[in-house]
Amino acid sequence: MKRLACSGRAARSVAILLICVAAPIASAQVAQRHVDGPRLWRTLERLSEFGRPSGSGFEGGVSRIAFSTEDLAAREYVMQLMREAGLSVRVDPAGNIFGHRDGSETLPIVLFGSHIDSVPHGGNFDGDVGSLGAIEVIRALNAQRVETRHPLEVVVWTNEEGHHFGRGLFGSGAAAGIVEPSVLERRDSDGLSIADWLRKYGQDPARFADARIKPGSLAAYIELHIEQGGRLDAEQTQIGVVQGIVGINWHTCVATGMANHAGTTPMDRRADALAAASRAILAVRDEVRAEPGRQVGTVGYATIQPGARNIIPGRVEFPVELRDLDAARIERLWSRVAARFDAIAKEEKVTIECAPLQADQPAVTDPRLMTTIREAAQQAGYSTLDLPSGAGHDAQQLSHIAPIGMIFIPSRAGISHSPHEYSSPDDVANGAEVLYRTIVLLDSRFDRR
Ligand code: GLV
Ligand code: MN
Ligand code: MN
Repeated sequence: MKRLACSGRAARSVAILLICVAAPIASAQVAQRHVDGPRLWRTLERLSEFGRPSGSGFEGGVSRIAFSTEDLAAREYVMQLMREAGLSVRVDPAGNIFGHRDGSETLPIVLFGSHIDSVPHGGNFDGDVGSLGAIEVIRALNAQRVETRHPLEVVVWTNEEGHHFGRGLFGSGAAAGIVEPSVLERRDSDGLSIADWLRKYGQDPARFADARIKPGSLAAYIELHIEQGGRLDAEQTQIGVVQGIVGINWHTCVATGMANHAGTTPMDRRADALAAASRAILAVRDEVRAEPGRQVGTVGYATIQPGARNIIPGRVEFPVELRDLDAARIERLWSRVAARFDAIAKEEKVTIECAPLQADQPAVTDPRLMTTIREAAQQAGYSTLDLPSGAGHDAQQLSHIAPIGMIFIPSRAGISHSPHEYSSPDDVANGAEVLYRTIVLLDSRFDRR
């Protein structure tokens, strides 16, 4: 069924009815956007001011770590945008922000959004495009007086990146009911826990479990995001239809040797934690490369102690991150890496101990949602490509409780998690337009299940 929903109010006015009919979202020839690209871009520029490095502009990147004063201020701005778009705003006990728009029928909610926290020295598009694009969709629906059958909710998830507290996909995981409450006691280098930060965000951590979204209450979750890889850009394709999202496995490892005098300790009497960690880091790369496939493995930092020129390092902490679309492959890789670490530790006369920090399962997107997104893009006249996501997304947590779909737009040169991350105003507007059309199509097709 193809149906352009106009509000009852609109239907009473012949003039407005004509507007509704004149913007047929189901026509293959019409490529005019319903969303306002320049308006959306202005909000992206404004959001970038929260956490902007001093002396730089919009293209200078951003450091807006979750649970920080910059993030808190940015959230206020986003809530203000939601209210201005007529959404009723609430914040759940995990700090997730929801903006609600009523539907005309009693149906499950169509949820869409993303995150606004960033990695340190990140870009102004990762998460921001999907969050502000979702609000732009609401403004466009309002402008066109489209009333949907389903209630719509825009969401901005808390701490997607997980840099702070080592717990990524935090808010969406809480909504899916898969974040263990003990995580709230994790402390940062200032001695503050997640629970302390939730209080600063106006929430009661004792109610954390209430952040769980009731099973059956969502019709679908859709996330618009930048690709963060280079395929769409290289293939000059406007829209990516995401097939699945990689699983991500995090361990924190510590090599412990013996700090000792760098001048007086003979080379054969050392227990050098840094030498051992260096071998371990290369072993991660070698094991991940040892089999064909798209799996990736990364060691993103190393903290060396005591950290002086003339002391043999006694302790090195380093994380190991493994990603793949196949959870079994991640397990297999980790077993091989762990076995290599044991052997290296023995040879280097140190210990290497690794503790699991987080494991997010791979997720597949819903085939019906893929079809709908593809159709929405084609209606707008945009080229599409089906592709997997190598980045993690809140959508993978939502896959535990709802059908999920993801829309990608090109990232220039595939660069992301960097101040050089960039997507053009046109690509951003195209993505929001596909989100708009996807929501309207879903609204007419999906029904209570
Ligand atoms: C999130 O952006 C991730 O993939 O780490
Ligand atoms: Mn993201
Ligand atoms: Mn990211």
